Amino acid sequence: MELNGKVAFITGGARGIGKEIAMCYAKNGANLVICDIAEDILGETVSELKGLKIEAEGYLMDVRDLKKCEDVVKKAIDKFGRIDILVNNAGVTRDNLLIRMSEDEFDSVIAINLKGVFNCTKIVSRIMMRQKSGRIINMASIVGIRGNAGQVNYSASKAGILGLTKSVAREIGSRNITVNAIAPGYIKTEMTEVLPEEVKAQMLATVPLNRPGTPSDVANAALFLASDYSSYITGQVIVVDGGMVM
Ligand SMILES: NC(=O)c1ccc[n+]([C@@H]2O[C@H](COP(=O)([O-])OP(=O)(O)OC[C@H]3O[C@@H](n4cnc5c(N)ncnc54)[C@H](O)[C@@H]3O)[C@@H](O)[C@H]2O)c1
Repeated sequence: MELNGKVAFITGGARGIGKEIAMCYAKNGANLVICDIAEDILGETVSELKGLKIEAEGYLMDVRDLKKCEDVVKKAIDKFGRIDILVNNAGVTRDNLLIRMSEDEFDSVIAINLKGVFNCTKIVSRIMMRQKSGRIINMASIVGIRGNAGQVNYSASKAGILGLTKSVAREIGSRNITVNAIAPGYIKTEMTEVLPEEVKAQMLATVPLNRPGTPSDVANAALFLASDYSSYITGQVIVVDGGMVM
């Protein structure tokens, strides 16, 4: 059990990669705080986590709302007394070509994917600085490294996360807090399930390992970054993409 007794706070944890990370952390002994806007599935995920014999709380929280994030973090601290691991996982896509992309499509993706990471990191890092320990893991994407046609908004938000990760890592490293990013490639979740079949086939053709990634492929990297095995690693990006970018 790599995370025995630790408290992890995961945004967008009700489904997909965030849920898989929560289940993986719970199986490794961590207690969980899950935040999401998807009210219908949040309770179900929390029940599944509790079935793993750890303590779990779920909160409705939109990462865009700084005040709400503050309230939820306070509730988590009232309940658990500390936060050892923050996983900034909540993210959305609103794809379009640049010339057709509306201002709202651009702004809304930046607000959730990038500003949301700023909001939660700002609040939780204060607690970790007091604790003099912590792990922050930000969910980026390979498109934040190499770009992607049709995803100017999304790739800008994910590239922004990489800059934020490295800057925060420099600011709070002396407090024994590591800050790293994971850049997944093509992972099979509800986010990618909706893509047209030909787009999925095109992506798959660029994966040397010849299969889409699973949420558990990403969760394993997130477990490593939360565990003692990564204690001297900070400001880094772990690419989990079956070799798409190399
Ligand atoms: N699936 C992939 O191929 C892939 C690749 C690279 C990066 N990612 C990133 O991994 C993360 C998880 O993706 P996924 O595939 O599991 O997606 P998903 O859509 O299955 O899950 C995203 C979760 O975030 C929640 N969420 C959305 N907006 C929110 C908000 N404003 N506040 C709080 N929660 C919110 C959703 O309700 C959902 O539970 C995202 O940041 C995504 O950009 C995914």
